[in-house]
Amino acid sequence: MEYLIKQYPLDTGALEIQYIEEFFGEFPRKKTAHEIIARLRDREFLILMAEALLPDDPGVVVPVSFKVVHELQAVEAEPKLRDLVARLQDCVRFAGRKVLYSWIGGTRRDWRGQGHFRALTEESEAWAHASGFHEVVVKTKNKFYDMRGTLDQLEFDVVKYEVNAADNRESKVYLSKQLTSDVVRAHTSTRTVVYADQR
Ligand SMILES: CC(C)(COP(=O)(O)OP(=O)(O)OC[C@H]1O[C@@H](n2cnc3c(N)ncnc32)[C@H](O)[C@@H]1OP(=O)(O)O)[C@@H](O)C(=O)NCCC(=O)NCCS
Repeated sequence: MEYLIKQYPLDTGALEIQYIEEFFGEFPRKKTAHEIIARLRDREFLILMAEALLPDDPGVVVPVSFKVVHELQAVEAEPKLRDLVARLQDCVRFAGRKVLYSWIGGTRRDWRGQGHFRALTEESEAWAHASGFHEVVVKTKNKFYDMRGTLDQLEFDVVKYEVNAADNRESKVYLSKQLTSDVVRAHTSTRTVVYADQR
């Protein structure tokens, strides 16, 4: 199967992400386009969406999976990112290296298990490696079993576990992957990438 991936510029991409997140019942707090733009505006980022045919109407192509990754620096101004960097201090080396944060992503329920998220992840890794990033980190929770299983298959290593004493399902898991050329060579998906226009 060949995956169709669209890469978005900031403004259009932020609106597309806001739209697709409406399809995810499991996301308690959906991101707004405003929030996405504020976070990504002054840093390197990639907004990717996989598109696929509607099974009931094969003439129609719809966005089915998305992924947003961005640069994470040792010194961050935004409180959430400052907090993240502080939590990663003991397990991710920032000095002299480019670190990528895999911020948000998912696949619409009807299209899960078809390789769309692997294709987006591999495309983001290929881009990141070519852009000089050394490592990609991601954060999830114990209770997100689909995501944990997927990150396992995608060969992310757990680098930190933060227990939530009140509810272990809410405990945070931090994972990472070194972006070596071997990782890129081991990619298995076949992808076509098109670039969306700025509106
Ligand atoms: C996690 C998620 C993104 C996976 O998307 P997907 O498009 O179904 O993933 P893919 O089909 O590309 O699968 C990638 C790999 O993960 C594996 N995988 C997918 N879902 C899995 C699951 N539930 N358990 C174990 N492995 C799984 C696949 O078998 C595949 O492995 P392979 O390529 O080695 O065969 C999707 O289930 C999702 O959006 N879940 C909700 C998101 C979420 O919980 N977010 C919480 C915030 S972190």
